[in-house]
Amino acid sequence: MNIAEEIKKRRTFAIISHPDAGKTTLTEKFLLYGGAINLAGTVKGRKGAKHAVSDWMEIEKERGISVTSSVLQFNYDGFCINILDTPGHQDFSEDTYRTLMAADSAVMVIDGSKGVEAQTIKLFKVCVMRHIPIFTFINKMDREARDPFELMGEIEDVLGIRTSPVNWPIGCGKEFKGVYDRFKKSIITFRAAGGQKEVEATEVQLGDSHVDEMIGESYHQQLMEDIELLDGASDELDMDRVGKGDLSPVFFGSALTNFGVETFLQHFLQMTTSPLPRLTTTGVADPFEDDFSAFVFKIQANMNKAHRDRIAFMRIVSGKFDAGMEVNHVQGGRKLRLSQPQQLMAQDRKIVEEAYAGDIIGVFDPGIFSIGDTLCKSNEKFEYEGIPTFAPEHFARVRQMDTMKRKQFIKGVNQIAQEGAIQIFQEFNTGMEEIIVGVVGELQFEVLTYRLENEYNVEVKLEKLPYEHIRWIENKQEIDVAKIQGTSDMKRIKDLKDNPLLLFVNSWSIGMVLDRNPDLKLSEFGHN
Ligand code: G4P
Repeated sequence: MNIAEEIKKRRTFAIISHPDAGKTTLTEKFLLYGGAINLAGTVKGRKGAKHAVSDWMEIEKERGISVTSSVLQFNYDGFCINILDTPGHQDFSEDTYRTLMAADSAVMVIDGSKGVEAQTIKLFKVCVMRHIPIFTFINKMDREARDPFELMGEIEDVLGIRTSPVNWPIGCGKEFKGVYDRFKKSIITFRAAGGQKEVEATEVQLGDSHVDEMIGESYHQQLMEDIELLDGASDELDMDRVGKGDLSPVFFGSALTNFGVETFLQHFLQMTTSPLPRLTTTGVADPFEDDFSAFVFKIQANMNKAHRDRIAFMRIVSGKFDAGMEVNHVQGGRKLRLSQPQQLMAQDRKIVEEAYAGDIIGVFDPGIFSIGDTLCKSNEKFEYEGIPTFAPEHFARVRQMDTMKRKQFIKGVNQIAQEGAIQIFQEFNTGMEEIIVGVVGELQFEVLTYRLENEYNVEVKLEKLPYEHIRWIENKQEIDVAKIQGTSDMKRIKDLKDNPLLLFVNSWSIGMVLDRNPDLKLSEFGHN
């Protein structure tokens, strides 16, 4: 197969859901159809069985959430599919956003009995912000579920995206009769088959004389009413709008009983495209160009205690990757060989010999990569558009308990900051004696404490600070920071590059400080 054919058959998507909505179950069912070839620890073990990616993810086990994202790859029906798992908690929405940068579309799994759950709104909104196609799978229809019209309305209201059902449920829970395929105009009836690959599904056309017999007269009548309503009121499935992330195709099913999963996968593969181009500083990079190029979207240290290393995950944007090939690290300004490229993370690592646009590879990182970095084969210098950082909303002062462990402490916080999990700052007038950590979600503090203790052997004390807003001083050259007329709730700090910043408890103080200091220019985002 030539390079273009390999690239053409690739599909790369992120899967996103509230914990317990059924993301893992759905992924497992996908794999049943495909026969996984590369499994990157995503499918977490069930209660005590083989567990997720790394040791420090104990915290995930305890809370039943997934903190890190991993990748897996499988083949199905001539396609090569890359699934990127995302953290299931909104405190990690920045991580989810970075993962979405590496995906071409997203599958949003929703529990049919719960709808859009409060703690997931932020995560789903991050998806909408990325403007990539979002496919909705409303799961657990074999349980009592909410009214499907209500569920769709909720997705539209809460997420600000329109919906277009591809199939429609007939009953739910014990009375779940199956789904109606709006395009084939056929009914696929459901009989729980215990989750095997071959579900007992029967398909009949809507006008078939057996419909009453199969789903019951009243469900048949209800379905006819629903169809009329849908045809009249729901948005047409306009693939242009899907492509822009304005309209989400919706599917109903039950991952556990394996109902509606394969049809979903088939429709999904038809509706999605091969790897999409990405913007660069010099234009647009075409995935089908021969020359390899990629960008780093995630860095993670100590994924496996036994390895004690740092992995940079990159999305290949164009061309083909061959193990051992020499590439330009644009931001580092040098050529290097990507060592031990692997596609299989965690316990089961596998060195990859070749990979193509759309694929995700992890390479050993001796501490040279940053999130957003570009790697390319050609000598032409270009960079992929950066990955934005979110402004932290929670701050804490962090101290190590044992002063003898200063070195490990500094190393730990620095490495974790390089992964993008936290941002670190210092008091304005002092050095690194005390570190102020900023995070987007409070749970990240817990991960920080846990990781410092387990990976760096440093116990720390965290003192939460009341600040919620951060501003960089844009015109720092013109401003004497010490002389800024502040408010009582303002604090001066600096980042590791000595850029001055201000922290505020209240958002209205920001306006007041700007009023008091007419020359001051503040920005919500840092500049590197
Ligand atoms: P997550 O990755 O999104 O967190 O969810 P996961 O797949 O782990 O599923 C959460 C629970 O919901 C699991 O039950 C799973 O079996 C169940 N589940 C998933 N899909 C369906 C579905 O379509 N119908 C029904 N009825 N249940 C579903 P659990 O009791 O937490 O785990 P287990 O003991 O079943 O392994």
